[in-house]
Amino acid sequence: MVQVLVVDGDAERRTGIEAVLQYLEHPVVHAEGAGAGEVAERTGGLALALVTADGSEEAPVRSLAEAAPDLPIFLLTPQGWPTPAPKDFGAELLGVLDLPLRHNQFTAALRQALSHNARSREHGRRPHAQRLVGESRPIQRVLDLIEQVAETDASVLILGESGTGKEVVARSIHARSSRRTRPFVPINCGAIPSELLESELFGHEKGAFTGAISARQGRFELAQSGSIFLDEIGDMSMHMQVKLLRVLQERTFERVGSNKSLEADVRVIAATHRNLDAGIREGTFREDLFYRLNVFPIEVPPLRERPGDIPVLIEEIIRRIEEEGRGSVRVSPAAMSCLSAYSWPGNVRELANVVERVAIMCPYGEVQVENLPKKIREAARGGDDPALSDRIAPASANGEEGPSLPNVDWGDGGIDLKEHLTGVEQALIRQALGATDGVVGRAARLLGLRRTTLVEKLRRYEIERP
Ligand SMILES: Nc1ncnc2c1ncn2[C@@H]1O[C@H](COP(=O)(O)OP(=O)(O)OP(=O)(O)O)[C@@H](O)[C@H]1O
Ligand SMILES: [Mg+2]
Repeated sequence: MVQVLVVDGDAERRTGIEAVLQYLEHPVVHAEGAGAGEVAERTGGLALALVTADGSEEAPVRSLAEAAPDLPIFLLTPQGWPTPAPKDFGAELLGVLDLPLRHNQFTAALRQALSHNARSREHGRRPHAQRLVGESRPIQRVLDLIEQVAETDASVLILGESGTGKEVVARSIHARSSRRTRPFVPINCGAIPSELLESELFGHEKGAFTGAISARQGRFELAQSGSIFLDEIGDMSMHMQVKLLRVLQERTFERVGSNKSLEADVRVIAATHRNLDAGIREGTFREDLFYRLNVFPIEVPPLRERPGDIPVLIEEIIRRIEEEGRGSVRVSPAAMSCLSAYSWPGNVRELANVVERVAIMCPYGEVQVENLPKKIREAARGGDDPALSDRIAPASANGEEGPSLPNVDWGDGGIDLKEHLTGVEQALIRQALGATDGVVGRAARLLGLRRTTLVEKLRRYEIERP
């Protein structure tokens, strides 16, 4: 439940408002008059403020504007008072509600505030240098596709698991298109409640619904002559899918509460981590909308299918950390092998999080294997991929710790230990190469060797890759 600030100089009235909020299980803080700003500053993490408009609202609203400029505010009109004209106090006045506070009115206001907060977070976010890096064949193919489609106005549908870089792809398309000097407007269709999404996308007129105290542009309008990025399109309700389809077909839309058509000169880029084919089969995604969006599909492969990109991605992430003045870090070769051997279920986002974390732990130092999270260290030892560890350790069935011993015929003369160990070493190297289809880097990781060491051994023992 989100935290709400109630500002009212009349203690009795304020208690009444707080009671409603507490009944809805929202934590409440309160303030009187111009102290509101300080309370908001101290509390932090507020979702919205309710300020009673009994003529004394100017001081608290101004103090809020100063202390918490993005905090959405609703004015509350006591019974018998005229509805206040929303003046420009420099604050985010989102609407007016009547007292006594009614449940459904408040819930609508709260939703509006949450979407406002999401929007300001998005705007405030640093648009990081969106360089799409990667040298693997799968990512080179993605780059080729971006190049092919960018200059056209075709709709693009970007598919891929969470954290694979779908938004990076969308931004690169925009950046390489003739619309690059115009806005790129992202909207996460999954994060905004379906009732609010329509006004978020298309805007609304003053008075279109409770709380709409002024007209507001939607994202399609903001993206005029630029691109709109409809993220998590697979989470859009059927109702909104119909509305969107109409816009794509007719290239016009109306603000909520208006019948004036506006032209949508907007390039549409959509993305989802969902399987839309399954959505269509299950009846949660419209087939006609799918075909409209899927004019040019781009699939972003998961990181585990392109481990070769891991070192350059790490380099890029470190470059960003340096650029933002948040320090620097280097990665030891052993730690790099370890990071390259992990399967990264959270893809590049997870990789970025891990690199940021170790950069905090080893500022300006060199990251060693032991600085890496345990699951990554374990994965590098082969525990991550049961298929691989089965294949390289078939003989470890004697239930003891450590490698199993091959049976040795001691005979009379015993064995030459050194020669014997060399034989075991060669056999294990051959097994590791077999298990990794001859990819030396991965085989080295399985054996806990540096790549160069393994290459040296292959040369010395004249072992051919399979
Ligand atoms: N090829 C790449 N080059 C550089 N940075 C990348 C690349 N791919 C992903 N990233 C970085 O990884 C993080 C996740 O990327 P992004 O937000 O584009 O993923 P996503 O597919 O949209 O994920 P989600 O489905 O979780 O929204 C971002 O910090 C992004 O900058
Ligand atoms: Mg995304």
